[in-house]
Amino acid sequence: MDRQNDIPRYTADESRYDTMQYRYCGKSGLKLSAVSLGYWHNFGTYDVYENARAVTRRAFDLGITVFDLANNYGPPAGSAEETFGRLMREDMHPYRDEMVITTKAGYHMWPGPYGDFGSRKYLLASLDQSLKRMGLDYVDIFYHHRMDPNTPLEETMGALAQAVKSGKALYVGISNYSPEKALEASRLLADMGVHCLICQSRYNLLDRKVERDGLFGALEQAGMGMTAFSPLAQGLLTGKYNNGIPEDSRAAGRSAFLKKDNITPEVIRKVTALGKIAARRGQTTAQFALSWVLRQPVMTSVLIGASRVSQLEDNVAALNRLDFSEEEIREIDEILK
Ligand SMILES: NC(=O)c1ccc[n+]([C@@H]2O[C@H](COP(=O)([O-])OP(=O)(O)OC[C@H]3O[C@@H](n4cnc5c(N)ncnc54)[C@H](OP(=O)(O)O)[C@@H]3O)[C@@H](O)[C@H]2O)c1
Repeated sequence: MDRQNDIPRYTADESRYDTMQYRYCGKSGLKLSAVSLGYWHNFGTYDVYENARAVTRRAFDLGITVFDLANNYGPPAGSAEETFGRLMREDMHPYRDEMVITTKAGYHMWPGPYGDFGSRKYLLASLDQSLKRMGLDYVDIFYHHRMDPNTPLEETMGALAQAVKSGKALYVGISNYSPEKALEASRLLADMGVHCLICQSRYNLLDRKVERDGLFGALEQAGMGMTAFSPLAQGLLTGKYNNGIPEDSRAAGRSAFLKKDNITPEVIRKVTALGKIAARRGQTTAQFALSWVLRQPVMTSVLIGASRVSQLEDNVAALNRLDFSEEEIREIDEILK
């Protein structure tokens, strides 16, 4: 028993690798679970620890190996990594070598000129802070969180290469980069003997920008994998807002990032129509939305959020049906145009 909380000690489910899919991340030897769990919401100081614990345990039991953090996740910033550190100490430490733990730096983290964007000074100090908060010796992937227009890319990539060479990160990646900058970043890192493993960008049925701007082709060219964040458009693509805003939902005020104004009649019309195709396929709207993202050959993993265990279970079951007919794709494009 866990004496502090009266919760039985965690032993991972022996069948955890039976049904999850694992995909090679670009041209690398690292496989990622096709579903990754993100800690942006629901894991900060203001959230319930036992819920965070239940979601993390269930995720691992379902075969999820990728746990995605960032220095600024919480709220308050830093607290998701602290929660994760506690989870590692209390439950997950025997399984460290079965986990891909990622963190990032790039958004505002501390006051003054060295706590934001992409300087070597910021990135390497932030990585040290993240490792301390999580109680880890290394992370598996360290990301630059967003492009920095004012720091030479050589400097930012030099900091990522240094993170690998110092053993504090096994791999590095970029997030929210344009196709052009992703290619440049990959070339710079290659010159320093480090492979740029992965790009993390938003991609979902309601936001197809990366399809249009050529990111997929650039990543394939660079031998990089991709993970799509907000694949459910923060919950919009689950259909949970089709009949109003549930009290316990992100849009009801649990986050500043999904505003009531985002839930327009036009969005609801599209999600409702997509939900009918999902039902025909025997999927929930959420499962359908995740399968649709995973159909892209470059897609290594969908990076979901979950505020409770039932959502996680619903989402992982997307893997039961990943094929789409040409007719379905045409129908989807028609709804979204
Ligand atoms: N690199 C970047 O700049 C960046 C940016 C954003 C996110 N991310 C990463 O991506 C991760 C996921 O982002 P996200 O949270 O926006 O992803 P998402 O999967 O699009 O949305 C997750 C939210 O949708 C709701 N939800 C999920 N599954 C559901 C289901 N089956 N039924 C009903 N509601 C469901 C839950 O919200 P409620 O229950 O609270 O309504 C949940 O917290 C983050 O945690 C973070 O790791 C990265």
